Amino acid sequence: MAIVLGIESTAHTFGIGIVKNGKILANIKKTYTTETGGIIPSEAAKHHKENKEKIYFDALANAGIVEKDIDAISFSQGPGLSPCLLEGIRFAKELSEKLKKPLVPVNHCIAHLEIGKLTNAEDPVMLYTSGANTQIIAYSSGKYRIFGETLDLGVGNFIDTFARLLGAGFPGGPVIQKLAEGKRSYIELPYVVKGMDISLSGILTNLQQKFNSKKYSKEDLCYSMQETVFAMLVETAERALAHTGKRELLLGGGVACNSRLQEMCRIMCDERGAKLFVPPREVLVDNGAMIAFLGEIMFQKGIKFSGKEIENLDIKPRQRTDEVEVEWK
Ligand code: ATP
Ligand code: FE2
Repeated sequence: MAIVLGIESTAHTFGIGIVKNGKILANIKKTYTTETGGIIPSEAAKHHKENKEKIYFDALANAGIVEKDIDAISFSQGPGLSPCLLEGIRFAKELSEKLKKPLVPVNHCIAHLEIGKLTNAEDPVMLYTSGANTQIIAYSSGKYRIFGETLDLGVGNFIDTFARLLGAGFPGGPVIQKLAEGKRSYIELPYVVKGMDISLSGILTNLQQKFNSKKYSKEDLCYSMQETVFAMLVETAERALAHTGKRELLLGGGVACNSRLQEMCRIMCDERGAKLFVPPREVLVDNGAMIAFLGEIMFQKGIKFSGKEIENLDIKPRQRTDEVEVEWK
């Protein structure tokens, strides 16, 4: 029996989750947003610093526990924006010292995959599409491997940049989704799949040119963007399913909130006899519960840092999914 607290702070969200024996007791978060313009890392970090105490105490109250009930503190070690990650690790170290409890560093991307297992997926291929990350990940031969990824922009950042061009604030995904709904005409856009990977920067330039030409409606551009880019994601996810022989597709990351992307994934899965798993929104987007959830699994296997070891623990802004030593399986 263990109660593990998890801290998420890789980007715009500061979240704290509390998990006991694989059950989520609390999942509190606050997200930095803007009316116009994108995310400024130092501003997001400031947001985290200002909100962390309240989120922490709200999480404890929500879980119905007190500080001394916590057995370990896990935190997102990477990948992510350095100023944001630093707020998380600082807070984790502070709590560890105050409560005299060990730390468990967690990889953010793998946490997205592991929490997805609450949906009863057993050994899925995950299509992970968030702001900074676009990866197709699956566990294979002792590691979480990347079967395909973006060669440049994360699909969420790509969508947010396009939304900014249209005058929307951050996050842009929901605005674009709305504009794309209804009766729309498809405008031809570049379709860029290279092997198992995708590339988005050329499509962004193309969209910018089309928008600036004033020949196309915002709605048609949003619709065409979604149809094209989501088809690229579905194609590469399907190839990963075929390559690994797995029969489960799990969605992760904020872009997976998009109902059209979900629909396209469902059609593909139905056609090939695979099963689609879509976690509820609160664990799909960045959240502390997923960090606590994987943190607890690792802690139970004896992976933890205490005393002097903690001094050497640092953030890993560019940590790759396949770099992680999976000692807990
Ligand atoms: P990371 O996991 O890379 O640190 P993040 O902090 O940006 O990323 P999430 O909260 O998983 O992560 O995702 C946020 C992204 O999801 C934003 O880019 C946002 O525009 C996008 N998004 C949210 N809802 C939708 C939607 N309905 N359609 C498309 N994109 C969406
Ligand atoms: Fe994420």
